[in-house]
Amino acid sequence: MKEFPKLTVTNHPLIQHKLTYIRDKETPKKVFKELVDEVGTLLAYEITKDLPMNAVQVETPLATTTCKKIDSSNVVLVPLLRAGLGMVDGVLNLIPNCAICHLGLYRDHETKEPVTYYFKPMPEPEKKMFIMVDPMLATGGSAIESANLLKQNGAKNIKFMCLVAAPEGVEAFSAAHPDIEIFAAALDEKLNDDAYIMPGLGDAGDRLFGTK
Ligand code: PRP
Ligand code: URA
Repeated sequence: MKEFPKLTVTNHPLIQHKLTYIRDKETPKKVFKELVDEVGTLLAYEITKDLPMNAVQVETPLATTTCKKIDSSNVVLVPLLRAGLGMVDGVLNLIPNCAICHLGLYRDHETKEPVTYYFKPMPEPEKKMFIMVDPMLATGGSAIESANLLKQNGAKNIKFMCLVAAPEGVEAFSAAHPDIEIFAAALDEKLNDDAYIMPGLGDAGDRLFGTK
């Protein structure tokens, strides 16, 4: 049996290749951001595999036929600020019409607990599929709190997408939200004493926005 039944790690060579450059501390900021977006696009391919579709009639040059179109009107992308912003364009490449619900929180450096500073609830949350995006799942505190807020607002269908997950974070998140599937590009070894993911990629927000 899988250690983490709700976790899907996508080992596709394109993702693993790009992740290698993302981890490399020598990768320049511009390239780092481009790669985070690209992996966001590739993970979005996996996470959207069961999006609802509508049947539509199409006239080809030769005949009328019934085809399928994605119904993305009820898909909501939830970037966890700041670092989640780095994956937004990548997901929008695949589902450009989805709504975006920004959720602002940061991890207190002393306590490692999440502090929420921005959340604007979506209307009709029970009809929507929410995709939370954040490059890092470390202790799990930020993702757990984000899913708590979405559920308090009425969300019933949530998925979570990250680049790198720590076992500690997957365990904590799955215990708090056993209904939510996690999609990641890598499951790393552990957290260090500062609750950073090892080997990880460092501080995702700082590398994306040049704040260190
Ligand atoms: C990082 C990261 C996650 C969080 C993960 O954000 O982007 O949101 O830490 O850690 P956790 O699983 O232990 O909660 P950070 O708090 O550094 O804020 P930032 O994105 O604004 O840099
Ligand atoms: N936040 C980050 O940006 N990186 C980590 O390794 C852990 C939390």
